[in-house]
Amino acid sequence: MSAPVGIIGGTALAELAELEDARDLDAHTPYGPPSGPLRRGRLAGREVVFLFRHGPGHQLPPHAINYRANIRALADAGVRSVVAAAAVGGISDAADAGRLVIPDQIIDYTWGRVHSFSADGDAPLQHVDFTEPYDPAARDELQRAAEAAGLDALGTGVHGVTQGPRLETAAEIRRMQRDGCDIVGMTGMPEAALAREAGLAYACCAVVVNRAAGLGDGAIHAEIERHLRNGMQALGRVLTAAVPR
Ligand code: HPA
Repeated sequence: MSAPVGIIGGTALAELAELEDARDLDAHTPYGPPSGPLRRGRLAGREVVFLFRHGPGHQLPPHAINYRANIRALADAGVRSVVAAAAVGGISDAADAGRLVIPDQIIDYTWGRVHSFSADGDAPLQHVDFTEPYDPAARDELQRAAEAAGLDALGTGVHGVTQGPRLETAAEIRRMQRDGCDIVGMTGMPEAALAREAGLAYACCAVVVNRAAGLGDGAIHAEIERHLRNGMQALGRVLTAAVPR
């Protein structure tokens, strides 16, 4: 039997209602517990393990998530590839609210997060090759899944990851624009780098739920609310159309 696919849900994907024969697995790791129980089940005929990164009741803000425990727990559950869902703000014109984006690059603006399995000196130091932070084959598969679901996903994009929990200032977004960021989120790092350290093939399917600070016409939170529900449905459709490997 092939390895189950890990799915990390974010604000845009708090649960996977489509999961069949689902059961919760308790997980413990040397780094502490993951955000919540791992939910194992079948999705479109594939075995998957789902984890909501903000935990039960959405109580964990982006900077307080135990990213190491989450990645380690998924790896320990036998997962070899991970699809990460994310709600993001749109910076480039193409990243309009409601659009799906499968980013191919990352710029990390986070600070103070435990960002490596070797951070405490208890795991061997690895200088992982992060030239391509997302797994190209997993990205291709997500792109095909979006097409199969009739959704027009942007197949490339630079994902700027900020510290949060506050949203950005307009000047910060202008700087990110100059840096070449297409979308902005708060949870993409160190998750992607830890997945690389753990040897997992990791890709992200982001849904743009608002224009980033200073770029939209209205209030950001109202826009987020408007787009979140549809975004969640779109992500569900992509994941049921195909789950990478
Ligand atoms: N900035 C950062 N993270 C986000 C945003 C944003 O505008 N929207 C959704 N997640």
